[in-house]
Amino acid sequence: MSPSAQVTDSASVRETRKCASTLARRLRPGDAVLLEGPLGAGKTAFVSGVARALGAPGQVSSPTFVFVHEYSARIPLVHVDLYRLPEGSDIEDLGIREYLDGSCIVLVEWPGRCPSFDWGGRVWRVSISIEGDMHRRITVTPPEAEDCL
Ligand SMILES: Nc1ncnc2c1ncn2[C@@H]1O[C@H](COP(=O)(O)OP(=O)(O)O)[C@@H](O)[C@H]1O
Ligand SMILES: [Mg+2]
Repeated sequence: MSPSAQVTDSASVRETRKCASTLARRLRPGDAVLLEGPLGAGKTAFVSGVARALGAPGQVSSPTFVFVHEYSARIPLVHVDLYRLPEGSDIEDLGIREYLDGSCIVLVEWPGRCPSFDWGGRVWRVSISIEGDMHRRITVTPPEAEDCL
């Protein structure tokens, strides 16, 4: 694990959102946030925490059949869920590349579906493991250039 990774134990959706809001304060336009963890880990809950912290109105839901949702917030947010991306599809066809132009924050569930895709500049990794019914362990790894603040 990277020395600057931060580990948070969460006992509720609310605590997961709080952890997300802490990250939200450090995000800048152009950042990508890659969320890893099994189904039901809380990746979408984490995204909703970031969205709320950045003032996006309304609910964040899983973009189950649409791969990309846009939310207007203080910094525009793009929520990408690649879970149902058919094997062998070309992620370039989803138009995600244009969101990585530095104007928005791009949050990605199941980035492992596209292991060789280059997410560009600053890439944060959020890994969530299921430790119990409500217990989640959230590991946030900052971009390489980001000092542990
Ligand atoms: N500490 C927790 N943090 C986040 N979600 C939790 C937590 N405890 C239980 N849950 C439940 O786990 C599920 C997480 O769902 P979701 O965010 O859609 O996961 P994912 O996007 O990783 O598949 C929700 O049903 C939520 O109520
Ligand atoms: Mg999800």
